[in-house]
Amino acid sequence: MNNIEILSLKLEHVDSVLKIDALSFPTPWSRESFEREIEINKFARYVVAKKDGILIGYAGMWLILDEGHITNIAVHPEYRGIGAGNLLLEALIEICHTELITSLTLEVRKSNLVAQNLYKKYGFLEQGIRKEYYGDNKEDAVIMWKHNV
Ligand SMILES: CC(C)(COP(=O)(O)OP(=O)(O)OC[C@H]1O[C@@H](n2cnc3c(N)ncnc32)[C@H](O)[C@@H]1OP(=O)(O)O)[C@@H](O)C(=O)NCCC(=O)NCCS
Repeated sequence: MNNIEILSLKLEHVDSVLKIDALSFPTPWSRESFEREIEINKFARYVVAKKDGILIGYAGMWLILDEGHITNIAVHPEYRGIGAGNLLLEALIEICHTELITSLTLEVRKSNLVAQNLYKKYGFLEQGIRKEYYGDNKEDAVIMWKHNV
């Protein structure tokens, strides 16, 4: 097996998550944003993936009423392609089952076919476009939904 374990995100993980975020997104989140998600935001659920004790990825979502909205999912570039993304997304879906969430949505860059493949694998469907959603390059977002989670 690939020795990847999934845990809840805690403050002690934030340094590693910030590094992965900076390597993964053009406009990474601040330390304060992650700390707020952990300490204040009652709607937030975040998980991390560790391989042999090293934090290699994280994912999170907000749960409001019966809907979930995935905010982020990222794996350290050196550890991509070994199944961590699958496990992180499965962990979010499992939380949805426990918390009686029936629909799950997200936005993904139109050019990000790798992430779109991941989401499609788990039953997400394209349901719309947000024009010029991403401020850095004005790229469109594809809106995806998974119903009957
Ligand atoms: C998207 C991301 C989280 C996937 O994580 P990962 O650990 O590499 O994914 P996995 O190895 O678990 O692969 C999961 C699925 O993703 C898709 N995928 C992964 N790598 C792929 C590639 N190089 N080409 C096409 N599809 C790919 C496949 O559907 C794969 O399913 P499989 O395991 O049956 O082949 C990772 O590429 C990443 O961090 N990207 C940068 C951040 C990002 O774009 N996040 C999404 C924001 S919406």
